[in-house]
Amino acid sequence: MVRLGVNIDHVATIRQARGEEYPSIVAAARTCFMNGADQITIHLREDRRHIQDTDVSAVKLVTREFSLPLNLEMGCSDEIIKVAIESAPDWVCLVPENRQERTTEGGLNLLDKMNFARVKDAIKQLKSGLPNLKISLFIESNPDILKQVKELSAPAVSAVEIHTGDYARAFLNEDDLQPFFASYTRSREMVKEMRLGFHAGHGLTYESTLALLKKGFFEEFNIGHWIISESIFQGLGSVVKKLKEAINANANTNARG
Ligand code: PXP
Repeated sequence: MVRLGVNIDHVATIRQARGEEYPSIVAAARTCFMNGADQITIHLREDRRHIQDTDVSAVKLVTREFSLPLNLEMGCSDEIIKVAIESAPDWVCLVPENRQERTTEGGLNLLDKMNFARVKDAIKQLKSGLPNLKISLFIESNPDILKQVKELSAPAVSAVEIHTGDYARAFLNEDDLQPFFASYTRSREMVKEMRLGFHAGHGLTYESTLALLKKGFFEEFNIGHWIISESIFQGLGSVVKKLKEAINANANTNARG
């Protein structure tokens, strides 16, 4: 089975734009689960531009109701680590965070010694607060970065999430996708040798997700902006249902190494 994590940050973006109580993030999480989502993903950013601290525990309750996981994306700051430990998500996806960026702009730079040490320390703090927590690292599909992941890897790390933003952009521009596919094939081999999960996220649309599914690289997709955008026209439940049905119909698990 290929899992669909629905990132509902932008439901909160709309709410924060007016400072109202609506649209409800809790209702959004329920709607996603009722229509086939396998996980809810939220990103608690240091600047709190969309998801707020109270949203994390509220969404956590919904994930408990459905017995499905909450995946919390976060940077490595002490303040966010504290909120994560208090709200006890099932997964944490560690991402680089830069206050000026419009959205996460790439994977963790584990080749930089200071960044590597920060990530290592965040993992240590999270695991000591939440021993059963599963951690994924948001990274570029790059063999040198994957060698660094190996240094941190099991049992502290359970998966990597590959940054698919450049792939998704190339797909929309109708550029050559073969270099991405070749890179994902190599990365998957390395990741499977480490016995980690291989997840994907960022910038994905229905069509660009289907093209990846057919290749059978990834076990999990975390998709947000496209789903919420499309919901304006079709409704959240209907978009999630259609996407999950397409994932089930097109998942090519035979293609996996
Ligand atoms: N995965 C990670 C690690 C992310 O940071 C994001 C954006 O918050 C997503 C997935 C979802 O990206 P998008 O909203 O572009 O689908």
